[in-house]
Amino acid sequence: MDAAALRAEFDVLAERAYLNAGSCGPLPRAALNANAELLARAATEGRAKAYFEATLDLRERQRAAYAQRLGAEPADVALTTCTSEGIVRVLAGLDLQPGDEVLTAPDEHPGLLGPLATLRDRRGIEVRTAPFAELADAVGPRTRLVACSHVSWVTGAVRPDGLAHLGDDVPVLLDGAQGVGAVATDAAGLGCAFYAGAGQKWLCGPVGTGMLWIAPAWRDRLAPLGATYINLAEPALALEGRPHPEARRHDAPAISAEASAQALAAHDVLAAFGWDAVHERATGLAAMLAGRLAGRGLTVAPRGATTLVSWEHPEPAAARDRLAQAGIVIRDLPGTSYLRASVGAWNDEGDVERLLAAL
Ligand SMILES: Cc1ncc(COP(=O)(O)O)c(C=O)c1O
Repeated sequence: MDAAALRAEFDVLAERAYLNAGSCGPLPRAALNANAELLARAATEGRAKAYFEATLDLRERQRAAYAQRLGAEPADVALTTCTSEGIVRVLAGLDLQPGDEVLTAPDEHPGLLGPLATLRDRRGIEVRTAPFAELADAVGPRTRLVACSHVSWVTGAVRPDGLAHLGDDVPVLLDGAQGVGAVATDAAGLGCAFYAGAGQKWLCGPVGTGMLWIAPAWRDRLAPLGATYINLAEPALALEGRPHPEARRHDAPAISAEASAQALAAHDVLAAFGWDAVHERATGLAAMLAGRLAGRGLTVAPRGATTLVSWEHPEPAAARDRLAQAGIVIRDLPGTSYLRASVGAWNDEGDVERLLAAL
């Protein structure tokens, strides 16, 4: 892989060691160009039939690209505005009853824990937590759903083995915000029923893009919120209209053509370098960083072969700000003693060295 050529696609890397894709990926120039081109056409030609047709075409191409990243069929992928929206759609669409239990881990992201707290407070669903690594063993007789991350946003650890064997009665919802695009992802192979992911992180798309994969076996067991116009099989049927039979019934009501165009352009920049190479380079650089930090005697959070590296620091927020001043973009994780670097294929050894030298 021509790593320098990939790096050159991202203007932010000209001056910064940008190690923050776990929040938002770097935007490639191609995304900016796709956006500008579409907006210019909309401004000069107006937004009528051709614009609407282009919107629908872009949505389907975006869906197909996301499906490829999930090893899935486009028919099973809904387009959302973010990971959290996919999570909310699953929690709201399952037939969970008061007294039913959802099992999760205590250090999941607020994008998952927030919707779970709402479910508990409004619908009497019990939310029980167990450590990430022990989730499979913690499933009890009233557990109706296990909801956890594919890759932990705190440590970079990978979902516990064993969840794939919970059977059809206890579906698993995976929060894939730090998974899809970062590491090779086979949604069906992970054994989950639902996989919610982000477009703005490891796929380098714009904020306001995301995906929800629904296992075919769960297609008819997840009620759609809506259906709004975009979700209907035949919108002209009005009150007699039925939701689209495919996952599109769960699409967000409005994803702009510009967002889809940027998402596709960003995806295609990465795809051109080969996804295996993209994943290998990113996880390899992350492992190198983790090794170097540990070699200095720092406490690195127990991680998997992923793209996140977290390590303890006495003053993480102050360190984040100081590093930002030096052009090194990482983040702290509020409520923890960790600093976290997100390492992508677009980074290089120079970024890693710059971070290490400035710590
Ligand atoms: C594990 C995890 N889940 C959910 C989210 C929320 O993502 P989104 O903004 O796509 O809803 C994040 C984002 O930082 C995350 O790391």
